[in-house]
Amino acid sequence: MARYDILIVNGPNLRFIGQRDTSVYGTRKIDDIPEILKEMNNELLSRISLEFFQANGEGEIIDRLEKAWHDKIDGMVINPGAYTHTSLALADCLGWIGVPFVEVHLSNVWSREKIRRQSLTAAHGIGVVAGFGIMSYIYGLQALVDYLDTSNNNLGG
Ligand code: DQA
Repeated sequence: MARYDILIVNGPNLRFIGQRDTSVYGTRKIDDIPEILKEMNNELLSRISLEFFQANGEGEIIDRLEKAWHDKIDGMVINPGAYTHTSLALADCLGWIGVPFVEVHLSNVWSREKIRRQSLTAAHGIGVVAGFGIMSYIYGLQALVDYLDTSNNNLGG
């Protein structure tokens, strides 16, 4: 079974998830992800090497995404926070680097204010998982690994 290098990217206001607006975003921290996978006895943990990145600035996120492309990382799970709805710059970057990614949101963005129903970034990804709190990241990771396995198999004939 292939092993993958995966980057989890969090955008603005996502550093204090677990403490921020807990009624909307839940109480678990992004850092809890490996622990949650262990609790679930999820074999994913043995197949991925996870790196975490969070930044509030658009430019810092774009710099990190360019590095991910340069390092030939296998895939990403990204929660662009509010930049999802506003950042053409971030969308352009995700478009040109071509690193496969799943976009995730803690909340169900479609059940919230109208502006949150638009994602500029999602069009460049494999798909979107939203509304499951921290589990959105777990489902996103699983979907990403399944996608990478399928692409590898297809390439291998
Ligand atoms: C979010 C949804 C965005 O609309 C919001 O700006 C966030 C978090 C989510 O994970 O639900 O910061 O991306």
